Amino acid sequence: MSVLVVYGSRYGATRGIAERIGETLRACGHEVDVREASPVLTATAYDAFVIGSAAYRGSWLEGPVDFVMRHVDVLAERPVWLFSSGPLGTSTTDDEGNPLVDVTRPRQFDELEEALLPRDMRVFFGALDPARLDFRDRMARRLPAGRRLLPAGDFRDWGAVDAWARDIGAHIPGPATKGTPS
Ligand SMILES: Cc1cc2nc3c(=O)[nH]c(=O)nc-3n(C[C@H](O)[C@H](O)[C@H](O)COP(=O)(O)O)c2cc1C
Repeated sequence: MSVLVVYGSRYGATRGIAERIGETLRACGHEVDVREASPVLTATAYDAFVIGSAAYRGSWLEGPVDFVMRHVDVLAERPVWLFSSGPLGTSTTDDEGNPLVDVTRPRQFDELEEALLPRDMRVFFGALDPARLDFRDRMARRLPAGRRLLPAGDFRDWGAVDAWARDIGAHIPGPATKGTPS
């Protein structure tokens, strides 16, 4: 099967997750393209999709949201998996004890779920390098005033990413037999 892994990433953490998912799907025997969401990216050539974005202030980035809007008809009739890269730090719960992956669920997930009926939706821990942030994100990292800074570091859980990708690989039908010598 031909799979498109499409992502939105501001500083590369989500691109890393997307590339890792692509490698695992290739190892499962699928043909995989890993592409940044962009207006020129098309969907019709692919049999299945993994779509992901970094979350900023509770929202997916514009690129992957636009990709879904442009190709919703194709996506709605083919298998789709969604992931978000967001929570930072080593704690798996917030101050009230709620799982971070639940409280950091991006606000688009409910509508995406309704429109695409994805096979699965997953939130992964992300990464933040303060030295790379642009002015807007450096300021936003400090807000709301009085709250602690968003933690710096690479908190991506490669074991969780790999396990999820292997599960996807196992649920996408195997490589096409077309062209196999008879
Ligand atoms: C200003 C700012 C706001 C953020 N807001 C959120 C958020 O609302 N929810 C979340 O889960 N992560 C949030 N994060 C963490 C990023 O989503 C995380 O660092 C992500 O892995 C970055 O991916 P990227 O390098 O691909 O852009 C925020 C980070 C910054 C710098």
